[in-house]
Amino acid sequence: MKHILGNWKMHGSAEDLWAWQEAFKPPVDVQCGLFLPHTLLHSQPVNFFTGAQDVSIHPGHGAFTGEISAEMVKGTGARMALAGHSERRHIICESNEMVKTKAENAIRAGLTVVLCVGEPLEIREKDKQEEYVAKQLNESFPMGGNADNVIIAYEPVWAIGTGKVATLEEIAAMHAFIKGVAPAQNMAILYGGSVKAENARAILFTDNVDGVLVGGASLKADEFQKIGEAAL
Ligand code: PGA
Repeated sequence: MKHILGNWKMHGSAEDLWAWQEAFKPPVDVQCGLFLPHTLLHSQPVNFFTGAQDVSIHPGHGAFTGEISAEMVKGTGARMALAGHSERRHIICESNEMVKTKAENAIRAGLTVVLCVGEPLEIREKDKQEEYVAKQLNESFPMGGNADNVIIAYEPVWAIGTGKVATLEEIAAMHAFIKGVAPAQNMAILYGGSVKAENARAILFTDNVDGVLVGGASLKADEFQKIGEAAL
């Protein structure tokens, strides 16, 4: 079954989510989910599952003002958590080590982790993307991670929010590479970076692509629904 996952980033009110949910008719046999801001995680929709965009590096409970632990996320009914999204790696400066700890916290709390990897433009221009992604995977893959609790998302940084999608050849090559070097067998591998209704089908049927992680285009229910339907 293909995974069609949206990432709302720092967008969305309760009203937006309500309207989105009313409009969204999930295609059957497609796993649809939304990574929502923490403020919206308490609402448990019936037609898709929810996930958190981040969990704290600190597990459980404690004096960590402003932090939200994996256990607290799990308590909302969320099923998944992102770890190592490129905006957190590059804007918030999260290291591989931090991503790994967060992913381990999420797994321990019973969440499925979507572990994001992907190279910046200057690395792609030097043709060093495989080395770069292999290092990210080696250093940020959680202990105890396997195909049941971790999904890998390949998101080239230069394709996120830029409208510049990787070519199908670039996607196929990197997904085959990740499949070969992933620390566990049979991992699902998603592609993310400027996925829209018009390019989703070709990407979803590229070799070793098990789904997509969608940013901007997930904010509109009808566009996201079309992306889901492209998986059928
Ligand atoms: P985008 O974002 O679809 O807006 O490029 C993808 C992501 O950040 O996961």
